[in-house]
Amino acid sequence: MTRPFKGFGLGLRTDHYQYIIDNKPDVDWFEILSENYMVPGGKPMAMLDAIRVDYPMVMHGVSLSIGSTDPLNQSYLQALQQLIERVEPMWVSDHLCWTTVNHKNSHDLLPLPYNEETIDHVAERIMQVQDYLGQQILIENLSSYVTYHESEMEEWEFLSEIAKRADCLILLDINNIFVSAHNHKFEPIDYIHAIDPERVMQFHLAGHSYSGNMIIDTHDHNVCDPVWELYGRALQHFGAVSTMIERDDNIPTFQELRTELAIAEKIALETLPADMLEINNYQLKGVA
Ligand SMILES: [Fe+2]
Repeated sequence: MTRPFKGFGLGLRTDHYQYIIDNKPDVDWFEILSENYMVPGGKPMAMLDAIRVDYPMVMHGVSLSIGSTDPLNQSYLQALQQLIERVEPMWVSDHLCWTTVNHKNSHDLLPLPYNEETIDHVAERIMQVQDYLGQQILIENLSSYVTYHESEMEEWEFLSEIAKRADCLILLDINNIFVSAHNHKFEPIDYIHAIDPERVMQFHLAGHSYSGNMIIDTHDHNVCDPVWELYGRALQHFGAVSTMIERDDNIPTFQELRTELAIAEKIALETLPADMLEINNYQLKGVA
């Protein structure tokens, strides 16, 4: 197993900056939203620098638009690279989606048609990004609410094939699997069992909301019991995977989120041997 395990992290949110600086809470790492720090200075950047002194970080983006037919946004990649040099993250991720068309930003993470043509297109673009950044990136599975007539395979086949062809890594969002399984009526465990454990570098966990007979990925609630159960089953398949909770709305105190993260730690300890959960050192495979 070459995949590293970095422990349990939380999303870094502005509400918690001062608490973290003052208390240096026991968290293994933080995930930052890259776009929030693509600025030359200001208070968020100062807070980021201060917190980075004490914690490893990973960078998570929403604007790469890897599935778009627009050319890759070179100024975005440049800003991303500058932030990577500043933060020195353990790894960098974005979503398996498209957000822009004709250079107009939808401000939403839109799903792709699952077919060979799209695999070719997206894998090629991921390779271009990896070449530019000089490292592998992680791509994350979305929660989705629509499908395309043009889709010819299951989402997990699409994700797996892209990761293989681009030689990239996967950020597997367990809640998104649960949400999409409900909305599209598949078994979430089938998704998990189809993904190569060697590709999965990180898990996301989050809460969601019901809207009629759909589930919406709102990140404004605690992680629900069925998602915790799926997390345990994912650990059985993947082994130890660096795990974090995403909370973007209705944000509780830092201590409440830390207590919720402890549930993930407890499930991991109950599911896996303790030596598998020791945090290890690892260098991402560079891209020549
Ligand atoms: Fe996520």
